[in-house]
Amino acid sequence: MSHNTFGHLFRMTTWGESHGPAIGCVVDGCPPGIPITAEEIQVQLNRRKPGQSRFTTQRREADAVEILSGVFPDASGEQVTTGTPISLLIHNTDQRSKDYGEIKDAFRPGHADITYWSKYGIRDFRGGGRSSARETAMRVAAGAIARKVLGAGVVIRGALIQIGEHKVDRSRWDWETVDTNPFFSPDPGMVPEWTHYLDSVRKNGSSVGAVVEVVAEGVPAGLGAPLYAKLDQDLASAMMSINAVKGVEIGAGMAAAELTGEANADEIRIGNDGKPRFLSNHAGGILGGISTGQPIVCRFAVKPTSSILTPRQTIDTQGHETEIVTKGRHDPCVGIRAVPVGEAMMALVLADHLLRHRAQCG
Ligand SMILES: Cc1cc2nc3c(=O)[nH]c(=O)nc-3n(C[C@H](O)[C@H](O)[C@H](O)COP(=O)(O)O)c2cc1C
Repeated sequence: MSHNTFGHLFRMTTWGESHGPAIGCVVDGCPPGIPITAEEIQVQLNRRKPGQSRFTTQRREADAVEILSGVFPDASGEQVTTGTPISLLIHNTDQRSKDYGEIKDAFRPGHADITYWSKYGIRDFRGGGRSSARETAMRVAAGAIARKVLGAGVVIRGALIQIGEHKVDRSRWDWETVDTNPFFSPDPGMVPEWTHYLDSVRKNGSSVGAVVEVVAEGVPAGLGAPLYAKLDQDLASAMMSINAVKGVEIGAGMAAAELTGEANADEIRIGNDGKPRFLSNHAGGILGGISTGQPIVCRFAVKPTSSILTPRQTIDTQGHETEIVTKGRHDPCVGIRAVPVGEAMMALVLADHLLRHRAQCG
């Protein structure tokens, strides 16, 4: 299987399967001299880690990351990147492959089982193997390094803004709330409603979809490229590469279709600092594929978890029609744990574009 590498100048290659001994990644192209420790990467991994609430899979993984290469103490003794490939490793410790024995020969609807089988003629059926979102842990780890490349001036935050039909009230948006509830909700008032709703979904052995919003503030104007590497294009591709994502929008997104030109155009004045000041941000911080200096706003829709307890019709590898119930441990709403993954993909795209911008424009 090819295409396990993401990025151009800041590149990440991930490897490993859900139920193999370990997963890992190699981050190549990271500039030298950037302070980074395993603890800093762990902070981000802990936000994605499974088993933290009854609303996420009960698989118990410490997701303890090790840095195997690419860092070294500088003259002051601080651990910094050396410019060589940074290799990160996480051991899988809570695989229960027997959970998946029954689905060895049958394809789970909504999963990549049938497409991997048609393409490769062989698949690691244990927990979805390579197609499992276990891989996204490495995106989060690499994303933590990307954040360091971007520097403290760029703040990337994500939030869950919708579960099923239940949407947050944006007038109550509070970033401080996001990391204090099990849903990454920016709306404290929505937490009890989501708790009640997801409890009923979970007890019925069902699942539900969600919408995630990721915002990057402090991004300098000028990142991106005008045609075939537009910043919005690359962001959409990055978000769409996350498991279970079925829709991506930037700024006003799909809602732009309902606006008039007057309402949609982000008017420009001169701010007190002498710099351009936009009066609105329907563009989501990107014009002509290039960042405007406004917050970059991206949303993506995550489909409901495919592994549910209700029997579903399917076929097996021998071509027989059968039914399947996916046992094992699953998130009732995978959108929750997709929040840190979306943040990581935003960081990876921006870090790559920052280096590409420097390469062309200095
Ligand atoms: C963080 C995260 C966790 C996920 N966990 C599960 C899960 O427990 N069960 C499941 O059926 N799908 C889960 N998924 C989604 C599947 O990995 C995904 O639907 C499947 O590989 C098919 O790929 P596709 O939906 O992108 O086409 C998860 C996705 C993410 C982002």
